[in-house]
Amino acid sequence: MADTDGLKIAKDYHISEPFANQNGFYVRGANHLDWGMKKHLANIFNPKSGNTVMFAFDHGYFMGSTSGLERLDLLIPRLLPWIDVLMGTRGALRTCVPPENRKAVALRTTSGSSMLNDDLSHEVIAVDIEDAIRMNADCMAIQTFIGADGQLSSLDNLSRAINTGLRFSIPVMGVVAVGKQMERTDRFFKLATRILAELGANIIKTYYCENFEEIVAACPVPIVVAGGKKVSEEEALQLAYNSIQGGAKGVDMGRNIFQSLHPCEMAAAIGKIVHEGFTDKEALEFYKDATNK
Ligand code: 5RP
Repeated sequence: MADTDGLKIAKDYHISEPFANQNGFYVRGANHLDWGMKKHLANIFNPKSGNTVMFAFDHGYFMGSTSGLERLDLLIPRLLPWIDVLMGTRGALRTCVPPENRKAVALRTTSGSSMLNDDLSHEVIAVDIEDAIRMNADCMAIQTFIGADGQLSSLDNLSRAINTGLRFSIPVMGVVAVGKQMERTDRFFKLATRILAELGANIIKTYYCENFEEIVAACPVPIVVAGGKKVSEEEALQLAYNSIQGGAKGVDMGRNIFQSLHPCEMAAAIGKIVHEGFTDKEALEFYKDATNK
């Protein structure tokens, strides 16, 4: 391991230069993966837009029932036409989601937290590779806690999932968690996203922040942006727009869809930005027209 004294802060991101190792397969950093991995990634990222709308409803794995997710069995089937990927737990998928749906699956694979404990950074791999295969998962989502007490164990979880994912051609999505003692700065997110990519994650889920383009430029796999806490539809659409403009290959939104008064119209408006090049203002107009507001 290189010593860390005299570390020079990175600064040359060549933002305007496209990712170099892209000749062949359209998903960033996946050029040399095998067919099965590419197929799963193609299920997630639309080959036309290169992007994805992941609907996250895995909150129950540590929050239990939360506002807007009280009845997954009623909500999910309504949203299917407007999303590309179901990001959920195996329990939610098996009990509440019709298997005949044609959406990709980002399977929440770690667990071990609950709202009752302060330190959420100690998780385990709860879903083994066999069940991920049974669930036809297109990626396994692994929570990681850089800078938190559970850093080592969470990176061990990530590496184990990547090892078995490579053996059975299932991609891994590294989820950047922001522990209480971390600040949502570009410096933190640059560190966290790059570590996960260097460890072999095929997709990174993180948060939007200033200098986001630099985070994207320095990360050799696609980034999807989590929506975070519920804000106004206008702000959520602005977040989606800024993320895509900044180089994200999609969003992984939960609360800003399922806590919206009109979840389907909100998911559709996000899809306009992610797949059809709408600005946030155009998407907001679409949302208002669709909801007669
Ligand atoms: C919850 C998660 C969610 O997948 C992620 O945070 C996206 O959901 P939201 O847009 O509500 O933040 O990891 O544990």
